Amino acid sequence: MKIDIGIEAEKRQEIAGGLSRVLADSYTLYLKTHNFHWNVTGPMFQTLHLMFETHYNELALAVDLIAERIRALGLPAPGTYKQFIELSAIKEVEGVPQAQEMITQLVQGHETVARTAREVFALAEGVSDQPSCDLLTQRMQVHEKTAWMLRSLLE
Ligand SMILES: [Fe+2]
Repeated sequence: MKIDIGIEAEKRQEIAGGLSRVLADSYTLYLKTHNFHWNVTGPMFQTLHLMFETHYNELALAVDLIAERIRALGLPAPGTYKQFIELSAIKEVEGVPQAQEMITQLVQGHETVARTAREVFALAEGVSDQPSCDLLTQRMQVHEKTAWMLRSLLE
């Protein structure tokens, strides 16, 4: 059945494309955070192991909301590692970094998702796609706050 929500097909496709990039960034950051939860070592082990768990659980819930918004706009959500690697602005980790380097990479990851979400927000705002704007605003809040918390560990 034809979609008639007040946003033309071409614009829905553009926003879904942007949300797919936010999804790919978020999924890549989810995996990186879970990886670091498993592999972190050192005197901060307990703090970081638990903190990373909180973060990857939040990301696991977020990717579902982003993918379902793409579906509500009438487009397929990317869901393979191949697509995520192509779409994501976050690079995968090489080897097992030291704890401090893990924190640095996670700060950069959260900042990257915030930047992608901010770009896509402008697109969604331009065609009065408030639900996408709302979702993107919430994602920016989470990523900017998490980046601040992780950054604080490095001072
Ligand atoms: Fe665990």
